Amino acid sequence: MDKLFDLFMYPLEAAALRKRRRSLMRKAQGRTLEIGAGTGANFAYYRWDRINEIDVLDLSVGQAVRSYDGANGTPFHWHEGDVERLPFASGVFDTVVSTLVFCSVHDPARGLSEVRRVLNTGGTLIFIEHVRPHRQGFARVTDALNPLWHTLSGECNINRDTLRAIEKAGFVLRRTRRSTGGLLIDGTATRV
Ligand SMILES: C[S@@+](CC[C@H](N)C(=O)[O-])C[C@H]1O[C@@H](n2cnc3c(N)ncnc32)[C@H](O)[C@@H]1O
Repeated sequence: MDKLFDLFMYPLEAAALRKRRRSLMRKAQGRTLEIGAGTGANFAYYRWDRINEIDVLDLSVGQAVRSYDGANGTPFHWHEGDVERLPFASGVFDTVVSTLVFCSVHDPARGLSEVRRVLNTGGTLIFIEHVRPHRQGFARVTDALNPLWHTLSGECNINRDTLRAIEKAGFVLRRTRRSTGGLLIDGTATRV
């Protein structure tokens, strides 16, 4: 299943995501949490010498991702759980990473509020998400297609305004970028 997901994602990965991951994941530092890590697509892009330890949380954590061994000794802690109820004390992380996750979280406001809670003040959220595009015509197409897409994809939404949701959760957006016709956003945000 993990291999199938990677195969399905390959065109988008090659066209845009790889470059965005490479540029952003090197900013992760200190005690880091990655939520919704899936098959571990970001692991190859971290600067492991800057990360003391990493917690990885997903609804389900497969054996393939657990066997990752490219971290040069950085301790990994694996968790099966929901971002809406993070099993961590408040303010313990310097960095939280979330890529292509908030499109399918049931209650994104609640999930983002949990991310904010576990970050320390001044801590950084690094994100890449696909979102509702800006151009009205295109945005309306995503609105119309979303119910069908949501059913077929198993809960993914193509018309969420995740950038706004991040701000509303109590983050200040630092560097943000839109690409792929406005469908992808990425950047960093600081917990205030
Ligand atoms: C599209 S995959 C993205 C995987 C990886 N982050 C990437 O960039 O390729 C979404 C991942 O988020 C996880 N996920 C979805 N909702 C979640 C939730 N509420 N809590 C934790 N993980 C969640 C899914 O299990 C899946 O592994």
